[in-house]
Amino acid sequence: MATTTRVNEEAAEEARRLGMRLSANPYSSYLYSYPHKMAYRKLEQKQSLADIWSGEVAETYFLYMHIPFCGARCGFCNLFTLPDKRSDVHEQYVDALERQAKQWVPHVTDKPFARFAIGGGTPTLLHPQQLDRLFRIVEETMGLDPSKASISVETSPETVSRERLQVLKDRQTDRISMGIQSFVEAEAAAIYRPQKPAEVERALELLGQFHFPVLNLDLIYGLPGQTVDSWLYSLQRALAYEPEEIFIYPLYTREHTIVKPNDVRSSGDDIRMACYTAARDRLVEAGYTQYSMRRFAREAAGSDKQLLPYGCQEEGMVGLGCGARSYTRQVHYATRYGVGRRETESIIAEYVAAERHDEIGYGFVLNGQEERRRFLLKALLHMEGLSLQDYEARFGSDLFEDCDELALLLMNGLAARSGDTLRLTEEGMALSDAIGDWLITPDVRRLMEGYVVR
Ligand SMILES: C[S@@+](CC[C@H](N)C(=O)[O-])C[C@H]1O[C@@H](n2cnc3c(N)ncnc32)[C@H](O)[C@@H]1O
Ligand code: SF4
Repeated sequence: MATTTRVNEEAAEEARRLGMRLSANPYSSYLYSYPHKMAYRKLEQKQSLADIWSGEVAETYFLYMHIPFCGARCGFCNLFTLPDKRSDVHEQYVDALERQAKQWVPHVTDKPFARFAIGGGTPTLLHPQQLDRLFRIVEETMGLDPSKASISVETSPETVSRERLQVLKDRQTDRISMGIQSFVEAEAAAIYRPQKPAEVERALELLGQFHFPVLNLDLIYGLPGQTVDSWLYSLQRALAYEPEEIFIYPLYTREHTIVKPNDVRSSGDDIRMACYTAARDRLVEAGYTQYSMRRFAREAAGSDKQLLPYGCQEEGMVGLGCGARSYTRQVHYATRYGVGRRETESIIAEYVAAERHDEIGYGFVLNGQEERRRFLLKALLHMEGLSLQDYEARFGSDLFEDCDELALLLMNGLAARSGDTLRLTEEGMALSDAIGDWLITPDVRRLMEGYVVR
């Protein structure tokens, strides 16, 4: 009896210390996919697309096309993108995309595409004709049915033009996602994003004339010079356009981004948590539902399409282009990852020059433990939470035995169980990035830490 009490006390103490540790550093890393690309390495043996895709269990696929070009690199950005506005460079890249699509068709079109997204970089930097060509490639070569797939395209204010929006409208795009970051000129300038508020308003007004079913706007909090009031001002400006979705991102800076961690602020005056809670409350008040730490959305009018069902826990991500990730349940792969000009330029040049795109040599092969961890993380960091039954049905094992760390989250109140579902509490959701980072397995962490970003 005395021993059980002591064990319980020790666990409670461990859970309390964990809660303090996570709250002390809420922004350790953003786990937008697991495993992170920095854990990818040269595969022991090259794999053919046939090997990778033939056993895939997903019933529909997600087609993602990556356009790795921007007008300039923003100071906070560590995405795979190259500042290059030359249309001949873009055209050669789209030629390579078409070559890749033709080689992939036999392996990845046995199931319908439920979703299609063009991301970047800034896809709308392309000339309208090249933008249209992207849709021709996916429709004519890959067999995407635009009347059945949900289609999303990323854009930035300065690249929004009537001609480009017309292409997107004609091609039945359902969702436009635009990065704004801030409506305050000095805040945008401080992150090397030379963006005038008038330019943002022009883009938003033009977008409004096209009535896309879903408009998403991205904003960042914790910018140099920003205050909680100026953050709420940007949020209010965005809300005035009644977007169906808003993503709010805490600012991350890294040693390899132009704005360095030390340029921003010392941890003592970090306003990010205050910005997050203020924005979350404001968004909920305005009728938005919170889906994750970053995503808030309200009921959209919807499109007339009969959309295909999409199981978000399934894999089947077909990524075309340099920098795009592809995943089956067991293999994740992509081209090499780079941020610096020289490295991105050389990765893109290799991709454009390549004759063959049907052998995969760089990625991550998930073992049973990593498959479980990926499933857990994807569900837990979203409001819907993790169904214990789904987990057991999929893996044939018990969640709490596979990941005993989760018990600590229940003890310190960062997660709660309701019936069959394990969910982060409000406090836990605010600490999603710290919790996600803490749940990275030691093997993946070792690989990520050993990766030198060039
Ligand atoms: C693919 S990017 C942006 C789309 C488009 N290129 C643009 O910037 O307008 C998606 C979003 O991630 C967010 N983001 C990217 N890097 C970030 C960072 N280091 N810290 C915080 N948010 C970031 C930004 O809000 C950005 O709009
Ligand atoms: S934030 Fe967007 S526009 Fe800026 S460099 Fe990154 S991808 Fe390009």
